[in-house]
Amino acid sequence: MADANAGAGPETATATAGGELAEAGLRWEVDGAVATVTLNRPERRNAMTFATWRGLAEIGRSLPAGVRVVVLRGAGPSFSAGIDLSMFSGEGGEGFADGSDAAATDRFIAELQEGYTWLRRPDIVTVAAVHGHAIGGGFQLALACDIRVAADDVKFCMKEPALGLVPDLTGTKPLVEIVGIGRALELCLTARTVHAEEAARLGLAEIVVPRDGLDAAIEELVASLLAVNPGAAVATKRLLWEAAENTLEEQCAAERREQTGRLRDLFGK
Ligand code: ACO
Repeated sequence: MADANAGAGPETATATAGGELAEAGLRWEVDGAVATVTLNRPERRNAMTFATWRGLAEIGRSLPAGVRVVVLRGAGPSFSAGIDLSMFSGEGGEGFADGSDAAATDRFIAELQEGYTWLRRPDIVTVAAVHGHAIGGGFQLALACDIRVAADDVKFCMKEPALGLVPDLTGTKPLVEIVGIGRALELCLTARTVHAEEAARLGLAEIVVPRDGLDAAIEELVASLLAVNPGAAVATKRLLWEAAENTLEEQCAAERREQTGRLRDLFGK
């Protein structure tokens, strides 16, 4: 297994200096076609700082070409307790945009969102292994992944409105797409906690397993994902993510286009 935290190596791009990522509460390893990204501040329940989100974006940019599956997980008792609340009192919140300059604030948030948007890239399948608390930015990180596998102790909570904020780390779109507008409103505006059984029912977790079975479930899922033809996986992910936005006619055209590419790859001369 390549320790990507060691910095630039044959498999990693340059700006992944281990010290910086460790400070950002992140570590990641690459093992063949699988990258595992661990939120790694267990003593703070993997609370996330601006550096964490910038680090996630950097990991996305540094992924070696052969990686097909990315697993996100949290060290310790929780996936993530969301934004590090100490940043609101100044600590680690350097460069905090206070909204007084709208354009600068927009740029600031856009940069942080880059820590999440790469998880939708069609060349990789992203899997969140969620246990314990997944609050605010942590919940949104799970929502940014293609597939969520949850332990039966999972506790999802969209806490932002309770703090006077909106969820702005890309989570509102997948949340509405998964649970519908009414349930999304109810969850966000009450900031209540969703436990495992309800998460499975709402589609917030595709798979729910006992806490001590999470690693095995991830291993099994990853093996299944890797068993599929790589080109077909990329094309199918692209196609499925397009489906919600497309008309039936557009989607039929997209299917024909992707299949033409597949047929050319499989049988073309
Ligand atoms: N930011 C900073 N520190 C945190 C955070 C956080 N979000 N969450 C937990 N910690 C710290 C605690 O302060 C505590 O530190 P200490 O040991 O120095 O006292 C340590 O992590 C352990 O936390 P506990 O509260 O003792 O752990 P417990 O398992 O009892 O509770 C829970 C975990 C439920 C996550 C609780 O810590 C909590 O409610 N945290 C705040 C969650 C929150 O409001 N996040 C913001 C969401 S909004 C957004 O992300 C934009």
